[in-house]
Amino acid sequence: MARLAPTSLSVALGRPGIGQVVAPLLRLVPSLPVTAQVLTDRSCSPARVLLAASAVWAGARRTRSFARRSAADSAAEGPKPKVVFVIGGPGSGKGTQCEFIREMGFTHLSAGELLREERQREGSELGAEIEAAMTSGKAVPSEVIAKLLEQAMRERGAWTQSASFVVDGYPRSEEQLRGWQTTLSSKVKLLCCLYLEVEKEEMRRRLLSRAENSGRVDDNEEVIEKRLSGFQADTEPLLKFFEDEGQLCTVDGSRAPQEVFADVESQLAEAPQEA
Ligand code: AP5
Repeated sequence: MARLAPTSLSVALGRPGIGQVVAPLLRLVPSLPVTAQVLTDRSCSPARVLLAASAVWAGARRTRSFARRSAADSAAEGPKPKVVFVIGGPGSGKGTQCEFIREMGFTHLSAGELLREERQREGSELGAEIEAAMTSGKAVPSEVIAKLLEQAMRERGAWTQSASFVVDGYPRSEEQLRGWQTTLSSKVKLLCCLYLEVEKEEMRRRLLSRAENSGRVDDNEEVIEKRLSGFQADTEPLLKFFEDEGQLCTVDGSRAPQEVFADVESQLAEAPQEA
């Protein structure tokens, strides 16, 4: 009987001679990976031979299309840029440290900055939503920030294995962490999550001092309090997650900027680099 496999064909024939005709014809189809093995089983009709051949042909096409899809998928996956997250409370010095990290060859992306830019972009559909969240000290919905982040990574840094991004202020909550895991996490290589640890009182002092001339809509006493109050609860689950993953690098951010950076630099040097 005919025994079918995607890469081989055993043609069982009821009438001698038909196999000798069909097998060479099948071999003429160059892309059909078929070995025609003509047997002499008298119970099989020429119609069944053709049926068997067409089943093998369809199987071979499925195999080739699967192979093509897999190749396309791996190409789409492509090289994985490296990412470092910098998290910490408002005023912990994320932006300041990221400026130093930028000197190490990283492209700096700030979640807050991306949101401020989008808010000001003429015709932005997200502008009102961002404005409402920012002026109330609340977090912007996670889909908005994930979308802006991926867009910025593709536009501002070449999407290559050697590209390195330092992302400040993201993820900011457990919800964003889940969003990250289901979207970008498989497309990049996360080197580590830097956590800048600073006492609330020190962060408040820095923000109030910056508020004197920053011009930021969220740099005023009332909103600063709201930003400070939500931060701790939102961050705890993130710290636990990255610690369990062995990817958390905690740095004492209460010292002078250069001192903090010395620590940051050595922690980054120790992070596994392979993409
Ligand atoms: P964002 O812009 O990220 O603000 P933030 O997290 O509140 O942090 P800041 O930018 O105020 O402070 P920083 O930690 O960067 O410190 P910096 O270096 O500037 O976000 C703003 C808003 O956007 C959020 O409230 C939210 O609404 C929204 N948002 C942002 N990300 C989001 C996300 N992922 N999802 C949803 N919504 C999001 O330093 C602060 C001051 O301290 C400066 O004056 C600086 O000179 C000084 N300073 C820094 N380091 C030191 C040091 N070591 N010693 C002394 N002074 C220092």
